[in-house]
Amino acid sequence: MNYKIALLKGDGIGPEIVDSAVKVLKVIEQKFDFSLDFTEYPIGGCAIDRCGIPLPEETVTGCQNSDAVLLGAVGGPQWDTQPSKNRPEKALLGIRAALGLYVNLRPAKLYPPLIDECPLKREKVENGFDILIVRELTGGIYFGERGTREGKYGREAYDTECYSVMEIDRIMKAAFDCARLRNKKITSVDKANVLESSVLWRQIFNEYAAQNPDIECVSMFVDNAAMQLVRDPSQFDVIVTSNMFGDILSDEASQLTGSIGLLPSASLGKANPGLFEPIHGSAPDIAGTGKANPIATVLSAAMLLRYALHQEEAAKVIESAVNHTIEQGWRTCDMSVNPSSAPLNTAEMTDAIIKNIL
Ligand code: IPM
Ligand code: MN
Repeated sequence: MNYKIALLKGDGIGPEIVDSAVKVLKVIEQKFDFSLDFTEYPIGGCAIDRCGIPLPEETVTGCQNSDAVLLGAVGGPQWDTQPSKNRPEKALLGIRAALGLYVNLRPAKLYPPLIDECPLKREKVENGFDILIVRELTGGIYFGERGTREGKYGREAYDTECYSVMEIDRIMKAAFDCARLRNKKITSVDKANVLESSVLWRQIFNEYAAQNPDIECVSMFVDNAAMQLVRDPSQFDVIVTSNMFGDILSDEASQLTGSIGLLPSASLGKANPGLFEPIHGSAPDIAGTGKANPIATVLSAAMLLRYALHQEEAAKVIESAVNHTIEQGWRTCDMSVNPSSAPLNTAEMTDAIIKNIL
């Protein structure tokens, strides 16, 4: 088997962490009977510099013609003055929409050796937690009608949250499929006490709950969910929620794991190639310093093997190598508040992971 992988390295630490993940994938490829062909395409700020726009056509077509996409991160202060429709972040939204990637899987679990990096008191997380946030990714307020206009108080700007039955239905299906393979519990997060779109969301979730008696189903308002995440994260298994609530709750959950530098994500659609990326940003302040943690991107590569290429065994080899590396005590500087030894840099962490594969 030969697979085509599109690499969208992007800006800031993007190129460094994608290089790390590719180094790991090249080792994996030697151990399994498949090969990977990597092709780079520009995205984000570097694409603005090169082609004038953050998501050039060649990038979209390149991704569409691949088996999977591995992305680093986009954005940086030098592009903050771009008009909003030409910002690097627009490229992310654009590629998600162009590939129809409506399911965003964001796992957040506590690695036992990192329990003291979790900002919660030890006794609150002694039982660990393993959460999968299933975030709707191509609808809601991110893609709703927007604009500026003259209103009652003069000039105003607006965005709208809109969800169709079709969009809610397909994300629920994905979430229930995930829950069935895990601990069979789903918490649907909405704001149905205020928002009409959430009333519809909750109604469809309730229909799924009635049809799937093997899954424990809970509905929760988003403000409560944000609180429950820091009160007792172990109560959650799968969380299914809208685009914006999922954006916010996944950053909150990431901090509970000890570092946002650990969290991968998978964005999936129906037939199109999936896109795999760390949930953190481009961290321009540490770009080029060797401080970037490659783990989130390496784990994103594992998700790519699992969900896009159906190479489950290869995915597991990467995940257990990362587990092992953390158990051995190796840390990058974001992973350790009180390091007992000097933290590893990006290349050293990558090599520590690779040693655990060989
Ligand atoms: C994320 C990011 C993006 C989002 C931004 C950069 C558009 O925060 O992937 O979580 O809000 O989806
Ligand atoms: Mn985010």
